[in-house]
Amino acid sequence: MRLYDYKIIFALFILMLGNIPSVSAISSSKLGEQIYSETCITCHGDDGKGALDGVPDLKTRLSQKDVVLIQSITKGLEKSNAALSMPAKGGDEEISPRGVKSVLTYMRQKFGQGKNRYPIR
Ligand code: HEC
Repeated sequence: MRLYDYKIIFALFILMLGNIPSVSAISSSKLGEQIYSETCITCHGDDGKGALDGVPDLKTRLSQKDVVLIQSITKGLEKSNAALSMPAKGGDEEISPRGVKSVLTYMRQKFGQGKNRYPIR
């Protein structure tokens, strides 16, 4: 084969790599981190301790089970004595179920508490 042919095969190989999920996942952005910094940070703050009055420290809340937290993030939460309530998906309806799991993993990694069970991407 001529050098030219090898170049084409190499180019095709590179193109194929982009379609293998594990390889493309590495280059994709971190979904959970992106969601947190776009939507949740306004109320919960960079440190998760709460940027506004009535927002609880996430670390204490993250001791709860995944099912509870996924439900709260997806549907929102309003405890009767709370000064402020948590809007469903932090107010961004576009956040997918995968996004909810990803942001939960991100918060567990960043603020501590609980096992990281879901992929962050
Ligand atoms: C408008 C402000 C606001 C935004 C935006 C917001 N939260 Fe909250 N969040 C709250 C408040 C207030 C609470 C406490 C609600 C309560 O206990 O009544 C809360 C509680 C929580 C809890 C604890 C739930 C529980 O079951 O105890 C989690 C987890 C959480 N938020 C995650 C998020 C995520 C993830 C986002 C972004 C997608 C987000 N929040 C966006 C205000 C907000």
